[in-house]
Amino acid sequence: MEPYSDDTRAILGLELPTDPRWVNLAALSLEDVLADHAWCEQKAAITCISLIQRYFDREAVVTALSPIVTEEWGHFRLVLAELKKRGLRLGKPRKDLYVNALLDFVTKGGPEDPRFLDGMLLMALIEARSCERFKRLSEGLEDAYLRKFYRRFMESEAGHYTLFIELAETYLPKEMVRARWLEWLEYEAKVLRTLPVRGDRIH
Ligand SMILES: [Fe+2]
Ligand SMILES: [Fe+2]
Repeated sequence: MEPYSDDTRAILGLELPTDPRWVNLAALSLEDVLADHAWCEQKAAITCISLIQRYFDREAVVTALSPIVTEEWGHFRLVLAELKKRGLRLGKPRKDLYVNALLDFVTKGGPEDPRFLDGMLLMALIEARSCERFKRLSEGLEDAYLRKFYRRFMESEAGHYTLFIELAETYLPKEMVRARWLEWLEYEAKVLRTLPVRGDRIH
């Protein structure tokens, strides 16, 4: 494992960088990477829709997430087109070990505030990790076209990560958001250490 890079910590706040071997694995199975990526974009869109349904009375959430649904769906279509162009198949969605492990950390039951906070921070974290992985792909892949392709996604997900943090701060004290975010970062680093290095999980 390489030491923490400055931008992994500073830009994304993530505790643990993606294993550098991951890009090589990713390059080896482009169909897996693109297919998984497509499904992840779709899941991002679906999650934003369900957050809008759940928090219909929080105007900032509804206003901010409505265009994100369109954007994530646009990402899904872009990746789908890329698969098609290359004669690769979407296939069925895989079990998402990463997200399933993160879901274990989400507060269930009890007062609304901590649950809302975890809903926002879970999304922020998934976006931050996607952004980091897109950055790796945009720097590490052999294919210049794909490097550029992933650079666009990287920029987009970086904006999403901060948006979810801002939404949490719109309704909750900054200190509360910050404290829980640090717990999430620590937990996510632990999750990454326990998962196998695979080439598919990307968003
Ligand atoms: Fe996306
Ligand atoms: Fe996103």
